[in-house]
Amino acid sequence: MANVPSIKLNDGNSIPQLGFGVWQVPNDEVTDAVAEAIQAGYRSIDTAQGYGNEEGVGRAIRQSGLKREELFITSKLRTKDQPYEQALKSFEGTMERLGLDYLDLFLIHWPVPAQDKYGEAWKAFVKLQQDGRIRSIGVSNFLPEHLERIIGETGVTPAVNQIELHPEFQQRDVRELHREHNIAIESYSPLGSGAALKNPTIGEIAQKHGKSPAQAILRWHIQEGFIVIPKSTHAERIRANINVFDFELDAEDLERIARLDRPDGKIGSDPATNNAIW
Ligand code: A2P
Repeated sequence: MANVPSIKLNDGNSIPQLGFGVWQVPNDEVTDAVAEAIQAGYRSIDTAQGYGNEEGVGRAIRQSGLKREELFITSKLRTKDQPYEQALKSFEGTMERLGLDYLDLFLIHWPVPAQDKYGEAWKAFVKLQQDGRIRSIGVSNFLPEHLERIIGETGVTPAVNQIELHPEFQQRDVRELHREHNIAIESYSPLGSGAALKNPTIGEIAQKHGKSPAQAILRWHIQEGFIVIPKSTHAERIRANINVFDFELDAEDLERIARLDRPDGKIGSDPATNNAIW
């Protein structure tokens, strides 16, 4: 079984560097997918209130027979529940749906700048962590200005920022800021939602190592030091995506992938302007 390394977070906790993402997996399919992932060796599962599948993830956790401390479970706060009291209450809903009594990592899903409530949500997260309900607290889709504001207001630095990151959108301009604050970067859409898999450079690098394009890209995330959470609903892909610890990209491969970065490579929406309330 794959030996997934851990990343030490700025609060002293550790997270497996590779986990299983379940965005867009319906609640009635997610239990089987997570069960498959756990069987393949994944110990970190990344869900969100907004995915509508926390219940199904919880079922898979219970059916796994693993001890609670062997799993690392992440969820994310929906955007409409950012006001302080709502955030506290909303977290309890997540715990009920997952059937857990503590969470490993909870993230503010989007900053939603027009709503101007992410600072309140962060204060609620700090309280939940102080109360021992959440081990690590973090954010997702936060731009430098959002990070700096919550750190300035509370003195508490997020452990993780989960952002869109893949070979065609490498986020090089924000990496230094994350390093300075010791905020771990977690890559979402790590395969570029599938698009980067067709890139000919990726294909050549994969072939050179006798691996698939997805494995070459996931290996790149690992070697760049990111936490990565590939999603698949296919058993053979779920198994292949964790099998990336028996080969290494060399300096030339890394340089070639660095050149795939494109200013217009972003696929998902822009956190500066995504003010959707749900
Ligand atoms: P599927 O669930 O049908 O396997 P990302 O993680 O960047 O969002 O990309 C996920 C997309 O890539 C999904 O559409 C998933 O489809 C597909 N995918 C995941 N793993 C692989 C793989 N090993 N080979 C090909 N496609 C994959």
